[in-house]
Amino acid sequence: MSIAVCPGSFDPITLGHVDVIERAGTMFDEVVVVVAHNAAKRYMFSDAERVALVEGAVQHLPNVRVALLDGLIAQYASSIGAKAIVKGLRGAADYDDEQAMALLNRHLSGVETIFIMGDTALSHIASSFVKDIAHHGGEIEDLVPANVAAQLKQKVEQNG
Ligand code: PNS
Repeated sequence: MSIAVCPGSFDPITLGHVDVIERAGTMFDEVVVVVAHNAAKRYMFSDAERVALVEGAVQHLPNVRVALLDGLIAQYASSIGAKAIVKGLRGAADYDDEQAMALLNRHLSGVETIFIMGDTALSHIASSFVKDIAHHGGEIEDLVPANVAAQLKQKVEQNG
């Protein structure tokens, strides 16, 4: 059985992420979407909220499950016998960081990283912009899954 891990911050998950996860799901028997910590980021959503939002967004995909990780993705991928770490690329801007992470993750664990080019119709979507748009009252329905749009609006109203 081939397993892939698809790690990210998912703060929150967007339609661009879902597109890449769907594509990975056609290539591997099982895809584990790993909600992880990026040391360079402060999150709007808690760990539990990010996991719940991903679960809601991938519930139509029977071979996809969600895990929360407080540790190294390389160790986790190797511990569950994953064949690959899958990352989405929107364009050249994503490449430099991703190349370094792919090489470090392989250095640490031997697990290869595979890059998937997402749908170009979604390549402008980034979680950070979605949060900014929501904060200023803009439309986010075409950018994130419906469960995320509802939760994000609620969060913005709560936080003022
Ligand atoms: O969505 P992001 O913030 O670009 O995802 C980055 C993430 C969470 C995948 C990366 O920071 C990560 O893998 N964090 C887990 C800890 C880890 O393994 N760090 C070393 C990466 S080389």
